[in-house]
Amino acid sequence: MRLLKLLLLFVFVQVSAQQGGMWIPSLLKGMNESEMKNLGMKITAEQIYSINKSSLKDAVPQFNGGCTSEVISDKGLILTNHHCGFDAIQNHSSVEHDYITDGFWAYKMEDELLNKGMVVSFVVRIDDVTTKVLEGTASLTEADKQKKIQENIANLTRTSPKESWQDNMIKTFYNGNQYLLFVTETFKDIRLVGAPPSSIGKFGDVTDNWVWPRHTGDFSLFRIYADKDNRPAEYAADNVPYKPKYYFPISIKGLKENDFTMVMGYPGTTQEYLPAVAVEQILTIIDPTKIELRDVTLKVQDGFMRKDNAIKIQYAAKNATIANAWKKWKGEIKGLKKANAVGAKQQFEKQFQEKVNATGKQAEYGTLLADFEKNYAEIKDYALAKAFWDETVIRNGELLSAGYKLYQLEQLYNTKGEQAFNDRRNTLINGWDEFYKDFNAAVDQKVFEQLIDIYSKKYPKQFLPASMENINPEVLSNEVFTKSQLVSFDKVKAILLGDAKTVIEKLNNDKGYQVTKAMADAHLKNVAPKYDEINLKITATQRTYMKAILELFPKNRIFPDANSTLRVTYGKIKGYKPNDAVIYEPFTYLDGVIEKYIPGDYEYDVSKKLIDLYNKKDYGVYGVNGRMPLDFIATNHTTGGNSGSPALDANGNLIGLNFDRVWEGTMSDIYYSPEICRNIMVDIRYVLFIVDKFAGAENLIKELKIITPQKKK
Ligand code: ARG
Ligand code: ASP
Repeated sequence: MRLLKLLLLFVFVQVSAQQGGMWIPSLLKGMNESEMKNLGMKITAEQIYSINKSSLKDAVPQFNGGCTSEVISDKGLILTNHHCGFDAIQNHSSVEHDYITDGFWAYKMEDELLNKGMVVSFVVRIDDVTTKVLEGTASLTEADKQKKIQENIANLTRTSPKESWQDNMIKTFYNGNQYLLFVTETFKDIRLVGAPPSSIGKFGDVTDNWVWPRHTGDFSLFRIYADKDNRPAEYAADNVPYKPKYYFPISIKGLKENDFTMVMGYPGTTQEYLPAVAVEQILTIIDPTKIELRDVTLKVQDGFMRKDNAIKIQYAAKNATIANAWKKWKGEIKGLKKANAVGAKQQFEKQFQEKVNATGKQAEYGTLLADFEKNYAEIKDYALAKAFWDETVIRNGELLSAGYKLYQLEQLYNTKGEQAFNDRRNTLINGWDEFYKDFNAAVDQKVFEQLIDIYSKKYPKQFLPASMENINPEVLSNEVFTKSQLVSFDKVKAILLGDAKTVIEKLNNDKGYQVTKAMADAHLKNVAPKYDEINLKITATQRTYMKAILELFPKNRIFPDANSTLRVTYGKIKGYKPNDAVIYEPFTYLDGVIEKYIPGDYEYDVSKKLIDLYNKKDYGVYGVNGRMPLDFIATNHTTGGNSGSPALDANGNLIGLNFDRVWEGTMSDIYYSPEICRNIMVDIRYVLFIVDKFAGAENLIKELKIITPQKKK
């Protein structure tokens, strides 16, 4: 018995050690490939990434800069998340055609809708250019070295071979220890093909965001169009559906817990190699400050949104964006504490120091940890002040953010003169009707009052502008919002009338502008320069620390932090245990939608058609044993940017669509743990069920290559 337990423990440690990490697709051969095979993968690294033959990577374009998508037909049909396509869906919506509420389906190609400015970008090949980027930098000082590296990157980007319709892009990996060149192809004629109603695509919206168990059908469909040579082209009526080098077969065979899965996509940012002292600072100072400032913002907005439908429409998108990161940070703190991430990092740092000493590398690496301690202590107040700046002026205070744009206008005049001033003024005026359309002064006044209250009390005293000491937030916000011209588009246009000198004089007499200017001066003069200076030192230390880890721990599984480039992550379908006495299963079903259903609610309403299909159990070939699978979770290590990523089975067939992570595991951006970090995917069978049974879009189903379960005899 004991032995069995030990053996099981050993197996568990082995297996869990094989998960986590976002790996470079061109470098999977060796360690990754064998881990993936151990976990159950049946295909080869060469099938995932190849430059000689078509491979999986040819079907995974980045979607419009921030998300991921996958090609699922030989006519350039791509699948991504509803929340990734949401802007486009919103842009095509009007009172007569409310695609947000009702969904949209193109039953013929002619009905597909053009999206100006939308792009998808494929990776053609990846080459290591580290040696070339670092050429001639060995003996330079830090500042000169960075300059030379930038020069080399610019030269290589310009001169490396590529076809005329392709682009070169160089990105750094391992904090400046490796450089890879990506040759890419960017398509610019992307049309909307299908989107479910929000009651499916955003089911559970903000309340269920980052939450498991989940019941969201977060998908939408687009199509890539190319010119007659199958190359990228601007929109033209005679463009044709793109013929992909590869597209994913779709498996509806179904899966079970512990089955292998992998996810390919474009994860944005992670910070897995921060020292303990940095994680401690995020945990105790930065995250809590940002959360506190968003707490008050969200509460005020929510209060107004519940009472007033017009305000709900104005603030829905902004509120959701603010809430998204807010909720993530809260989960991050909880997870980092529970996993004792700081303790684990300290433990590693002890080993690290011992290894440095044992290998005689003291001169090179001996002071790294002490440098971190010193630099993070030094940056602490500046980082806190920066968090305040980001969350008050840049993000949550709307009048303040408008004020800051005007502050930049004044600076521009001071440095570049009248012409630059005029150009910027025009750009501002042109862009601002959008901003003011969704601005409500009553809401922002209350938000302002709350933000300013916390700012005046908790902003580091040494940087606090004198005018913000001992203020009465209610009195100040009243004064600002009754006197300032920044509260409406008409007033702000009026204040911008006249020559530069007059405008600047008017601005400086405006109460709202005065407050912004005091805060901006404090930040830009007293905080930002010093912050940048210390941060540069931290970046250099981090680069050397990363180099040392790679060198001294060659056997560790060390993957490069996310940087919005194509990656592969793999793991298993698996439930988890978020809290004492609670166990989560890895699959949800349509039954859960009906359980959560609140008629008329804006997050939990369900359309009659879906209820009918549920009551009739009319699931076609997509249901199993009278139930309709919906979402599922696995141990794939993902982050923001992986939304819309294909989830693949052991054979590389499409089984789902990534869209989120579980709240208890959002610390995976800093510290991944296979115990609790899970990515959330929509089961592909639910996607097909909605397209087929709900929308009746047989035209789309016909395009797909669907692998069905073998009939039992
Ligand atoms: N939490 C997911 C992500 O980080 C989904 C967000 C989409 N929903 C939203 N309310 N913004 O992007
Ligand atoms: N929801 C995220 C995205 O949109 C994915 C994540 O953070 O897990 O990219």
